[in-house]
Amino acid sequence: MKASATDKAIIEARKITKQFPGVLALNNVDLRVYAGKVNAVVGENGAGKSTLMNILSGVYTEYDGELLLDGQKIKFKDTTDARNVGISIIHQELQLVPQLSIAENIFLGREPLTKMRTIDRQKMEEESRVLLSKLELDADVNGKISSLRIGQQQIVEIAKALSFDVRVLIMDEPTSALSESETTTLFKLIESLKRDGVAIVYITHKMNELTQLADFVTVLRDGCSVHESAVKNIPVDDVVKLMVGRDIQDFFVKQPHVKGDVRLKIENMSMKKSGKSGKYLLKNISFDVHASEVLGIYGLMGAGRTELFEAILGLHPTRTSGTVCIDQKSIKISSPDVAIKAGIAFIPEDRKHDGLVLNMAIAHNISLASMDKILKNGLLSANLEQKQAEMYREKLKIKSTSSSQSVAKLSGGNQQKVVVSKWLATDPKILFLDEPTRGIDVNAKNEIYKIIDDLAVEGIAIVIVSSELPEIMAISDRIITLCEGRYSGEFARAEFTEEKILHAALPQ
Ligand SMILES: Nc1ncnc2c1ncn2[C@@H]1O[C@H](COP(=O)(O)OP(=O)(O)OP(=O)(O)O)[C@@H](O)[C@H]1O
Ligand SMILES: [Mg+2]
Repeated sequence: MKASATDKAIIEARKITKQFPGVLALNNVDLRVYAGKVNAVVGENGAGKSTLMNILSGVYTEYDGELLLDGQKIKFKDTTDARNVGISIIHQELQLVPQLSIAENIFLGREPLTKMRTIDRQKMEEESRVLLSKLELDADVNGKISSLRIGQQQIVEIAKALSFDVRVLIMDEPTSALSESETTTLFKLIESLKRDGVAIVYITHKMNELTQLADFVTVLRDGCSVHESAVKNIPVDDVVKLMVGRDIQDFFVKQPHVKGDVRLKIENMSMKKSGKSGKYLLKNISFDVHASEVLGIYGLMGAGRTELFEAILGLHPTRTSGTVCIDQKSIKISSPDVAIKAGIAFIPEDRKHDGLVLNMAIAHNISLASMDKILKNGLLSANLEQKQAEMYREKLKIKSTSSSQSVAKLSGGNQQKVVVSKWLATDPKILFLDEPTRGIDVNAKNEIYKIIDDLAVEGIAIVIVSSELPEIMAISDRIITLCEGRYSGEFARAEFTEEKILHAALPQ
């Protein structure tokens, strides 16, 4: 497994330097990528991982240093150029067109043509079907992207990347939106691509994926490559140390929570599927959450976790039935506005679309949902807004040049930290979090766990959905499981084991 002198890299980056206005994103970075291997690239949010991948795949063409393909110097003019030599990238931020179908997205810009020079829809659909079945995605290739869950959209991105002849497949945090079963399918696929000699470049924040999947690892820190070796030659703890540049001492330790009164009570919540099928996405779900309690909701993809949040928040009032009580008062939540007024804050799963105004400053984004907090004599105070932003920038370590930097310029993980800050700034009574640490580095994850924990101590009722069992077990006081839209189990903290919770979440 060790790269010997005879092992030649398919693609090699030498002394790559990339400067953005005010930010040195990459500083003399070297990377070697080997055929038939998984070459992992890790580092904290903002370390430069995506920027390096954008250079390898022809997105950025302005940089210092050089790329070598099979030992020969090469300079890509654009992404098509890179694709033509077999380099395909699945970006961290999905780049699909929501209004187009799955098949149209896969073949966008290079649709197969019939003899009559019209688009050969049949061929497009057939090839799309083959790709989807390889990836075990059960969806209609003519269905719109917007009708898919975010994890399913990620799989379409993967299908699209595979529809080219690939020699090097770059995956930028591919599993961050995938369920466990989807991840298993992806890993099987990666194994088969390896056997075909494809080189995989794999960016991840999940350290268990390193040991499970990767052959080589490169660690980036603040734009520099600080380590490169075979994975088996370095313990994971050392990788983490290299990423952050110091020992991590303060791993999250949960504080005891003194449970208060019932804050939120949900009874018989049901939600029909859209359309006329009469089928249910949620059926008769009841639970409550107390002040100062963290309730975890665990279920596999499709179990109804996100739908449950949507139902409670009044996103689909015509299809939803059941009752919601806040502080013993029954309340009819007919729209998300009503939910916010009632004291519910919601950190959504698909943050890019639901949570951020990309071309606005970090500070504005953070204060968007809590304008009343930055009023002074009835007027918006830039000063207060700035102060608030600085507090979160510091607390969540949002890597940025200043709080007036536009969010579009931040790395993926740092954008997510901005959304989390925005909702924390609303001082909610009840806080819903849907996969709050997706794409966030190990260090910042611990910071977010601490914040959630502190909020609970302060009296907030917290409901969190996470597909990472270790995460949900670390921060919850109680966990309920959902399976196929129904309540399927409940566990007090003392009873938590991975086996029990997973068992309750699996269809019987
Ligand atoms: N278009 C841009 N303009 C200005 N600065 C940018 C731009 N893209 C990235 N940066 C900056 O370059 C640095 C590296 O960002 P990059 O996206 O490569 O990080 P990353 O390692 O992929 O992080 P993450 O894990 O959060 O995705 C960050 O400081 C980021 O703010
Ligand atoms: Mg990135």
